[in-house]
Amino acid sequence: MSNPNHHEQPYGVGLAYRFNVHREAVQHRSEIDLLEISTEDYIIRERRTFSDPNERLLKDALATFPCVAHGLSLSIGTVGELDDVYLNSTRRFMEENGLNIFSEHLAYHRVDGNDLTMFLAIPFEEVAVQWVKRNYYAARRAVGRPFALENVTYSFPVPKGSLSEAEFLCRICEETDCTLLLDVTNVFNNSRNHNYDPIEFIDRLPMDRVSQMHLAGGHQLPDGRWEDSHSAPVMDEVWPLFNEAVKRSSNLRNVILERDSKLKPFDSVMTDIRKAREIFYSHRPSEAPTLESAPFADVDIAPDPDAPEFAGMKSFQRALMGRISNPPFRDAFLANAPEAVKQYGVTDPEWFQKLVECDGRLVHEFEEAWDYFEKEDEQVAKEYEQREWAAWANQLGPGGF
Ligand SMILES: [Fe+2]
Repeated sequence: MSNPNHHEQPYGVGLAYRFNVHREAVQHRSEIDLLEISTEDYIIRERRTFSDPNERLLKDALATFPCVAHGLSLSIGTVGELDDVYLNSTRRFMEENGLNIFSEHLAYHRVDGNDLTMFLAIPFEEVAVQWVKRNYYAARRAVGRPFALENVTYSFPVPKGSLSEAEFLCRICEETDCTLLLDVTNVFNNSRNHNYDPIEFIDRLPMDRVSQMHLAGGHQLPDGRWEDSHSAPVMDEVWPLFNEAVKRSSNLRNVILERDSKLKPFDSVMTDIRKAREIFYSHRPSEAPTLESAPFADVDIAPDPDAPEFAGMKSFQRALMGRISNPPFRDAFLANAPEAVKQYGVTDPEWFQKLVECDGRLVHEFEEAWDYFEKEDEQVAKEYEQREWAAWANQLGPGGF
C-alpha cells in the first residue's frame, strides 16, 4: 500500500535500487526496509532510456518502499562552477517523487569540463575544507535541504596533506550541517590500501553525525590492493568493521547494500541484506526513533572559484587532470614539469610539490583509463550513428523514397 509520507525518514536496511531486480526486491519486501534511488538513472536521459523509460517500475518501487536519493555528479571538491542543471534536476526529481533524503560523494571527478567519472581524493587541507563548505552550502540551497556526504575509496591521497583523512572529515562536519554517509567498505579498502587501522579511523570520526551507511562487495587485486567492485558479496573482513561502526553510530537511520551487477541469483544479495539486518537491529531499535525535523537556515556563502585563496588548489586540480586527460601535457610534464605546469597556472611551490609527488604509477592508471574511455566513447558514438542510419534505411524500406 502506498504511503506518500514513507520517504520522510527511511529506517533500517535496504538495497541500492536497480530496475532489473525490481520483481525480486518486491518479493522480499518484508526483509528490505528501504531502497536507495540513484537519481542520475532518471535525470540523465540516456540512462533512463536504457532502463525504465516510462518510470513505471520506479513509481511502483516508490509506492512499495520508503526510499532515499543518492547522487553521483556533484563533484563537490572541484574548485570550479557547480553544475546547476544537475542540481536543479535533482531537486525537481526529488520533489516530484516525494523524496526527502539526499546524499552525495566527498570527492571530485570533473575539472575544466572533463569528467573522469572516477573519484579523486580531495586534498586533506584546510583550504579544501573551506572550499567544500562553500560548495556544500550552495548545493544545499539548490537541492533545498541539508544532505549527507559519503567518504569514497581513493587510489592515492594528495601528497603532504596537513590533515589526516579523519581530521578532514571532522572539519567538514564542524564547518557544515552535513551528516555523514559512512561507506564501511570504502573505510576498509582505504585502511588496507593506505595503511591505517580502520577502527582507530572511525573512532576519530564524529560518529554521532553518521546518518547513513553503505556496504558493498569487493575483492583484493593481484597486486595486493583492495577494490570495491559492487559486483560481489560483502567481503568477510568488512562485517566486523560494520558491526563496530553501527555500534558507535547513535543516530544511524539506514544502511544500503550497493550491488551494481551480478545481482542474480538474488539469494546472494539477500544473504548480505540478512547479515546487515542482524547487525543493524542488534544495535539499533527495531522501531525507527522519532527524529525532530529541525528547520535549517539558509547560509549565503557563494563559492568563488576565482578567489585567490583557492588558486593553488584549483591549479593543482587542473594540472592533475591535465596529466590524466591531455596527452601533449603529459609529455611536456615529463620533459620539464616546472615549465609545463605554467599552462595550468601552478605557481605555488607547495602545490607544485604535491603535483610532482603524486604516485606516478597510479596517475598512469588514470591516464590509461581515460584513454580507454575516450576510445570507447568514440566507438559507442560510431555504433549509435550506424544504428540510426540502419533504422532510417529500414524505415524507408526497399525501394527508398
Ligand atoms: Fe558507497
